[in-house]
Amino acid sequence: MTGDNPLRIEHIPVENSHPAGGVIALWTIDRPDKLNSLNAEVNAALMSACDAAESDDAVRVIIITGAAPSTPPEGKRAKPASFVAGADISEFVGKSSEDVRPIFESNPWEAIWNLSKPTIAMIDGFALGGGSEIALSCDLRIATPRSKFGTPEINLGLIPGGGGTQRLCRLLGYGRAMEMVMGGEMIGGDEAHRIGLINHLAEVDDLRDKTLDIAQNLGSKSPHTIRVAKAAVRAALEQPFSAGVVHERALFCALFDTADKEIGVSAFINREQAEWKGA
Ligand code: COA
Repeated sequence: MTGDNPLRIEHIPVENSHPAGGVIALWTIDRPDKLNSLNAEVNAALMSACDAAESDDAVRVIIITGAAPSTPPEGKRAKPASFVAGADISEFVGKSSEDVRPIFESNPWEAIWNLSKPTIAMIDGFALGGGSEIALSCDLRIATPRSKFGTPEINLGLIPGGGGTQRLCRLLGYGRAMEMVMGGEMIGGDEAHRIGLINHLAEVDDLRDKTLDIAQNLGSKSPHTIRVAKAAVRAALEQPFSAGVVHERALFCALFDTADKEIGVSAFINREQAEWKGA
C-alpha cells in the first residue's frame, strides 16, 4: 500500500467543459501488495466516493482502476499487476451467513451500479471475483491484453455475491456466464475483448490515455442528457422490451423541454460547438 487512504481520488479537468468546471474523477484502489483486493476499508471508501461523486455536479465521468505494483524489497518477487483480485479472502475466515449478510447488503457494487454518471473500469491485470464485479458494475471496461478476468469463487466454495452472476449473464449471455461462474477459470484480455466482456483493448503504455480519451468524450456531452441516456439503456435490463421502448420514448420527449436540446440543435444548425447548460 502506498498511502493510508485505500482509495486515491484525482480530478482531471474536462477539456472544453460545459457547464464549466467539469472533471473526470479517477479513483485508484490502492492496496497493490494485496492485489488491490476489497477489504472493509476499500469498500467503505468506494461507497463514500460514490455518494460524494453523485452529489458533486463537477464530476462528469468516473474512472475506477487499481494501483500498479510497488517496487519489491531487495530479493523479493514483484507482485503482479492487478485491477482488483476480488474480495479480501482473509475477511471470510470463520464468518457465518449472519455475519456476512449485512456486509454484502450495503456494498460497493450496487453503489457504483447506481451512479447516474458514466463509469469506466480501467483494467491492467487481475480482475477476479469481486474485482470482475467492480468492472461489471461500470458502464464501460477498457483493459490490457495481459489482464485476466474470472469468477473463481467456486474454488472457495462460494459463488459471486456482488451481482456477478446476473451482470455476466446480461452482458455475455447464459452460456458463457455459466461457464465462467461454474468453471472458475480465468480468461485473458484478448478473449475478454472477443466475447464482449470489455469494450476496448489497450496496451499497458496506452491504457490511461485511451481511457481518458473516452472519458473526455463522455465528459463533453450535456451532463443532463448523458444521465438520461444511461437511464434509457439501463431500462433495457429492467423492463420487458415493449415497456422499455415506451419508457425510452417518454424520456426522449421530455428532453424536448430542456435547454440543452435547444442548445444542441441550434449548435448543429449554426455549425457551432454546443455550450451545454446541463439542464
Ligand atoms: N484477498 C486477499 N489477499 C489476496 C487476494 C484476495 N482476493 N488476492 C491476492 N491476495 C494477496 C496474496 O495473499 C498475497 O499476499 P502476501 O504477499 O502478503 O502473501 C498477495 O496478494 C499477492 O498474491 P499472490 O497469490 O502471492 O500472487 P500470485 O501472482 O501468486 O497469484 C492470483 C495471483 C490472483 C492468481 C492469486 O493471488 C489469487 O488466486 N487470488 C485470489 C483470487 C480470488 O479467488 N478472488 C476471488 C475472491 S472472492
